[in-house]
Amino acid sequence: MRSHYCGKLTTQEVGQQVTLSGWVNRRRDLGGLIFIDLRDRDGIVQVVCDPDLKALFDVAYTLRNEFCIQIKGEVRARPDTQVNKDMATGAVEVYASELTILNKSAPLPLDFNHENSEEQRLKYRYLDLRRPLMSERLKFRAKVTSFVRNFMDSQGFLDVETPILTKATPEGARDYLVPSRTHKGQFFALPQSPQLFKQLLMMSGLDRYYQIVKCFRDEDLRADRQPEFTQIDIETSFMTSEQVMAVTEQMVHQMFNELLGVDLGTFPQMPYWEAMRLYGSDKPDLRNPMQFVDVADLLKDVEFKVFSGPANDPKGRVVALKVPGAAEKVSRKDIDNYTSFVGIYGAKGLAWLKVNDISAGADGIQSPVAKFLTPAIIVDILQRTSAQTGDLIFFGADSYKVVCEAMGALRLKLGDDLKITQPGWKPLWVVDFPMFEENDDGSYSAVHHPFTSPLEPQAFLETPNTDLKLGALLSNAYDMVLNGTELGGGSVRIHTAEVQAKVFTLLGISDEEANEKFGFLLEALKYGAPPHAGLAFGLDRLVMLMTGATSIRDVMAFPKTATAACPLTDAPGAANPQQLAELGIQVITKA
Ligand code: AMO
Ligand code: AMP
Repeated sequence: MRSHYCGKLTTQEVGQQVTLSGWVNRRRDLGGLIFIDLRDRDGIVQVVCDPDLKALFDVAYTLRNEFCIQIKGEVRARPDTQVNKDMATGAVEVYASELTILNKSAPLPLDFNHENSEEQRLKYRYLDLRRPLMSERLKFRAKVTSFVRNFMDSQGFLDVETPILTKATPEGARDYLVPSRTHKGQFFALPQSPQLFKQLLMMSGLDRYYQIVKCFRDEDLRADRQPEFTQIDIETSFMTSEQVMAVTEQMVHQMFNELLGVDLGTFPQMPYWEAMRLYGSDKPDLRNPMQFVDVADLLKDVEFKVFSGPANDPKGRVVALKVPGAAEKVSRKDIDNYTSFVGIYGAKGLAWLKVNDISAGADGIQSPVAKFLTPAIIVDILQRTSAQTGDLIFFGADSYKVVCEAMGALRLKLGDDLKITQPGWKPLWVVDFPMFEENDDGSYSAVHHPFTSPLEPQAFLETPNTDLKLGALLSNAYDMVLNGTELGGGSVRIHTAEVQAKVFTLLGISDEEANEKFGFLLEALKYGAPPHAGLAFGLDRLVMLMTGATSIRDVMAFPKTATAACPLTDAPGAANPQQLAELGIQVITKA
C-alpha cells in the first residue's frame, strides 16, 4: 500500500510516481489549493491537492486531522522560495493524483500542540506514540537493542531465554506472585532478574550468555524505576571482574560512538567508599564538580550540639559543601527552600556560611552558626574548603546516612539550579562495594545480592565468623554509572559451596531456609561450577540517557503509572469468581 515512507522523500525522487499511506498531520486551505501534511513513522511530507482535480479536491476538503489516508502522486521539487529548511522533506512536495480515505478519525482525546497529562497520555498511549518525539525514541531504542545483539554476537555471547514463571530471585524488591492452578495455594514468582538461571547456565558450560530480558520488581517507583523493566543481562565464565568491565565498557563506548557520535573516553574507577566520601552517593554525577569536605574533627568540641553531636558519634558525619561564587546568587529565601529540600531526606536543618571577604578571615564571613564557633575553627573550615570571597558553604550534620543522602541530593540540586553541572557525559565505574550493610535491627543484608563474591574469598573463608567485621568486608562488585544514573551493576559470583554457605550463615539465613530458597543453586555448586562473573544493564535507563528523556516511562512503549497501574488496559483488575475458585484463592476486602 506504499512505495515510500513520507519522511524519506528527497529531491532524488523528483519526477517519480509514489504511493504514500499515513495520517493527516494538518490540513491547510491556501489560495484555492489544499495542503496536507502527511505523516508516517518516518516523518512528514507536504501533499498538494489541486482544485482542477475536482473529485480529489472534494475528498481533500473533508479531511480532518488524523484521518488515515493513501495518496498517489508525483514528487515535485518546491520552488526555491518555498523550500522549508525546518522539514527533512522540505525541498519537495507530492502533487496528488489519487486520494483515498482508509479510515476516518474522531477528534483525538490528546492535543498534540499542548502538554497532556501523563495519565491521559498513558490512557491513549497508542495515540501518544504517534507523536514524532515518541516514535523517534522507540526507534532509537530499537537501534540500541540491535546494536547490543550484534555486539554480543561478535563477542561470542549466546542469547538464552530463562523462565518468567519461576521462584523468588533476591534482588531486594518485593516479588510479583502468580498463583498456580495446578498446585493450589502455591505461587510462582516473576523474576526480579535472571540472576540464578544465568549462573546455572555457566555451570552448564555455556561460557558466555546474554539476554535482553524483562524483570519484575514490586518496589516504590520513580522516574528511573518501573515495576517491569528490561535488562541487558550478561554472564561469563573464566573472566575476572576487570575483563567483564572491559567488555561491557567497550560495548557502551562503541554504542555511544556509533549511535550518538559521542566518545565517552576511558571510564575511571572509583572505590565505593571514595564515592561516598566525596559525593555521598554510590552513583556520583561527575558533571558536577562540587565535593563534600569532612569537618567533623574540627567540630568535636564546639558547644553547638547540632555539630558536636554527630562529630563525636561514630555513626555520625559532618560535611561542608562549598558552592563557588554563590554567596550573592543564593538569597535567604533560597536557603529556606534548600533547608526544606534537605528535610525531605531527613536533615533537621541546613547551616550555612557566606564568605564576604576571605582576607578578613573569621571576620569576613556571615553565618547563623558563627556565634557557636571560634575564629580559629572558622579559619580552619575556610582553609580546608579552599574558600574564596563570594563562596557559600553549606553544612550537613547528622547520621552518616542522612548526611550522605541529604547533602548528596542538595549537591545535585545546586548543580542544576546554579548551572554548576556541566553538559556532556561522565561515565565511571564504582568498585569495591561493601559485602554487607547493617539493618536497623543490627542484622545484615547483602548490598548486591547474596551470590556476590567477597573481594578476597580465600581470606574470607579462612577467617572465623566471629572475627569478621561484616560492615568493613568488601565484595567484588562493580556498577557502571553515567551522569549520576546507575546504568548497570554486576559482580564476580561465589562459585564454591563453602563460601556460599558462609555468606548465608552471616546473613542469618539458616541451612533450612537456604535449601528451601536456593537449594538448587547450592546443589549445582557441587558439580564443578566454574568461576563466573557478570553484569546487567538497565536498558530503559540507557535509552533514557541517550535520548535525553527525563523518565524511563518516555522510552517504554506501554509503561505503568507511578502507582504501578496501566490506565490504557485498566490493569490490574479484579479476577472473576470462577478464576479465583479454580486457583483456590479468596480475596479479602478490607472494611
Ligand atoms: P541490579 O539489581 O543492580 O542487578 O539491576 C541491574 C540494573 O537494572 C536496572 N534496574 C531498573 N531499571 C528500571 N526499573 C527498575 N525497577 C530497575 N531495577 C534495576 C538498573 C540496574 O543497574 N542480577 C543483578 C545483575 C548482576 O549481578 O549481574 C541485578 O539485577 O540500571
Ligand atoms: P538552630 O539552632 O536549630 O536554629 O540551628 C541553627 C542553624 O543550624 C540553622 O541554620 C539550621 O538550619 C542549622 N542546622 C540545624 N540542624 C542542622 C543539621 N542537622 N545539619 C546542618 N545544619 C543544621
